[in-house]
Amino acid sequence: MKAAIIGGGVIGGGWAARFLLNGWDVAVFDPDPEAPRKLDAILQNARASLPALSDLPMPTEGRLRFADTLAEAVTGADYIQESVPERLEMKHRVYAEIQRATPDVPLGSSTSGFKPSELQKGARHPSAIFVAHPFNPVYLLPLVEIVPGPTHDKALITRVKNLLRDLGMFPLHLRREIDAHIADRFLEAVWREALWLVRDGIATTGEIDEAIRMGFGLRWAQMGLFETYRIAGGEAGMKHFMAQFGPCLTSPWTKLMDVPEFNDELVDLIASQSDVQSGHHTIADLERIRDGNLIGFLRVLKDRDWGAGKVLRDHDARRRTAIPAPALIPDAAAPLVLTQMQVLPGWIDHNGHMTESRYLFAASETSDALLRLIGADMDYVAGGHSYYTAESHITHLGAAKLGDHLTGTVQVLGADEKHMHIVITIARQDTPVAMVEQMLLHVDMTAGQTCPAAPAVLDRLLPIRDAHAALPRPAQAGRHVGQRKN
Ligand SMILES: NC(=O)c1ccc[n+]([C@@H]2O[C@H](COP(=O)([O-])OP(=O)(O)OC[C@H]3O[C@@H](n4cnc5c(N)ncnc54)[C@H](O)[C@@H]3O)[C@@H](O)[C@H]2O)c1
Repeated sequence: MKAAIIGGGVIGGGWAARFLLNGWDVAVFDPDPEAPRKLDAILQNARASLPALSDLPMPTEGRLRFADTLAEAVTGADYIQESVPERLEMKHRVYAEIQRATPDVPLGSSTSGFKPSELQKGARHPSAIFVAHPFNPVYLLPLVEIVPGPTHDKALITRVKNLLRDLGMFPLHLRREIDAHIADRFLEAVWREALWLVRDGIATTGEIDEAIRMGFGLRWAQMGLFETYRIAGGEAGMKHFMAQFGPCLTSPWTKLMDVPEFNDELVDLIASQSDVQSGHHTIADLERIRDGNLIGFLRVLKDRDWGAGKVLRDHDARRRTAIPAPALIPDAAAPLVLTQMQVLPGWIDHNGHMTESRYLFAASETSDALLRLIGADMDYVAGGHSYYTAESHITHLGAAKLGDHLTGTVQVLGADEKHMHIVITIARQDTPVAMVEQMLLHVDMTAGQTCPAAPAVLDRLLPIRDAHAALPRPAQAGRHVGQRKN
């Protein structure tokens, strides 16, 4: 698949990185001779951060090409994203040129403020043009506001939303067009309020940022506005909250209808406070700090399957289904290939190698996959039965490094009604980096005792054991700590 990115600045660069890292080829057109250097810096940041959000290996990165002309960039594209400066007449000129070459390819605009009906004016093929408004950094944040014009091609919009979901994004479909869409209307309201607070000497830029990041910013990032206020209403919920704060609507709690005079004095005041607050970091440092914070935050949300983290989980789940599942009862005696992983930035210790606990993590992901395969999955656990690991022995055979693609395979050495004896191999390409031998016991969780596994589970497990009996026993099996290598 090929994406054309028209305008490769802050936002276009972020789009290019998201497409490339998801395996799309990308052609960029940007007349600025500095564009390749700027885009390369964004791509470096994206390579260091986006894979950290996935629990599956990323697809092979696509090819990046800078085109000499706009027509060359869009020719053969399956999707076009325009991110030129926010000037309507410039966007119109760019669309005219694009649609001369490729009239009906979906053409999304990153515009922060223009309505699609304004963008479509005078276009040769207006229904191919819509708003796809992302958030910086585009390669990490899932939200993209999709705003179709009053006349639009429903099938095209559906196709676009699916395509963006495949890039790990969350398309939010606006019911009706409006200036500045949804999110920027909030941001503009908050921004206007903040300008008053600084101008009137009530708060500095730093104090305003503390008010956000020490408190409500954290709440907003995981529950938004209404869910947060629902809790604030206590047991009585949203109605109580509204009754309590409704009267404030007539209080002078906001200056939303009024804006401060935008003059040099105000600009200097804001800029100088911002220098004091953040001038000791370069922009490149701030970008890396921001990306690291976002990864940490998104990862926590992912562990909890909540908010933006749920988007990441669902994306992994969709990609996982594309990996062929091993045959339930192997027809040839071969270890079962059960997991594909990639060594992520957070898995690395100070010497650049995968940290010790992650080898065991990789093994446990693989034994979990075996349990799912034989039907001892989460539903089985909810029914009160499970396999518990009684013993593990790990032998380190090599070192995995950042970005390595790892495969987890299982050989079943022995199994009966209550026991399962397995060897898990974690390999980089075909070279094993660790072998983990485990004994698992089948337990009745309520009684806290071992018991025979369900017949349906044994019907899946025992044929694997029988097929694997033909395999040579791994040399590491049965080793104890300190044993000499032969
Ligand atoms: N910066 C943000 O946070 C943000 C967020 C969401 C959406 N947007 C929107 O994204 C769009 C781009 O904003 P940005 O912040 O990336 O601006 P930017 O100035 O960083 O990038 C614009 C790029 O367009 C290039 N350009 C100029 N004329 C061109 C042409 N004729 N053809 C191709 N490229 C051309 C410029 O050389 C520049 O590299 C705007 O519509 C803006 O409203 C910005």
